[in-house]
Amino acid sequence: MNVRHFRKVADLDAREIRYVLDEAARLKRQPHGDVLDGKTVALIFSKPSTRTRVSFSVGVYQLGGMPLFLGEQELQMRKSESIEDTARVLSRYVDAIVIRTFAQADVDDLAANAGVPVINALTDDRHPCQALTDIFTLEERFPDVRGRTVTYLGDGNNVAVSLAIAGAMTGVQVCLSVPEGCDVPARLWDEIVSVAKQHGTRVWVERDPALAVAGASALYTDVWFSMGQVPDESKRRALQAYRVDATLLARALPEAVVMHCLPAHRGEEITSEVMDGPRSVVFDQAENRLHVQKALLAYLIRGS
Ligand code: CP
Repeated sequence: MNVRHFRKVADLDAREIRYVLDEAARLKRQPHGDVLDGKTVALIFSKPSTRTRVSFSVGVYQLGGMPLFLGEQELQMRKSESIEDTARVLSRYVDAIVIRTFAQADVDDLAANAGVPVINALTDDRHPCQALTDIFTLEERFPDVRGRTVTYLGDGNNVAVSLAIAGAMTGVQVCLSVPEGCDVPARLWDEIVSVAKQHGTRVWVERDPALAVAGASALYTDVWFSMGQVPDESKRRALQAYRVDATLLARALPEAVVMHCLPAHRGEEITSEVMDGPRSVVFDQAENRLHVQKALLAYLIRGS
């Protein structure tokens, strides 16, 4: 059997994404199981994490397996051993590898040399586990999610990229509202457009945040400066108009929800008023990481 990886959203096809999301809903109702009985999942983290680390750890345990946390500084990887050799060695011990790191190429290298599934837990380019969870969370609020619009406001970062691809593959329209200078990198935008075309879905950029949120079923934002980025005052000024607040939310559909992958900088990209308000699904998103990643792990490791 070919080893399946989740380096990016499109590593699954639309049918497989549907299966994982349905399975996640079942696991949310019935959290404990034995599908990972006797299995070990390595968690390699080169960046800080609260949700991803804890939800993967708890999720593996709830399915009968053992999570093995490995801070990158504790490994030989990239110091006295290549990523390729690390992949070969870990594959002799564990049943899946979850990795959070900087370069997408490192995840791709690990996957190319691993004999077990490799799951991308965030790179500078992508955050596919977050994106699957975001679609799951949207479907909880809008069972008729196909054709609805999510407007992402702020910096065109890894979360925006994976959200746009996951939306395109599940029938959700994604509008990116980012100022000039904060666009998704061209090579990733080309990929987004290609996936959307393939699936007959719409993705577009609207620089004016007031126009971008009109007709939206969800307003989504993330921090303006991703992990490892040095805050830049001109970028901060350019992003002021993209803050998700009560005024922008009032322009969206009456049933629109507010989304954020967390951690949030309250008062910067989102106000506490909307993040803690009745239309926020922010903490549902955080919880749902657990259910979706369990379904994903079970699918990749066991094929079920
Ligand atoms: N959203 C997310 O990935 O959170 P962490 O960085 O805390 O894992």
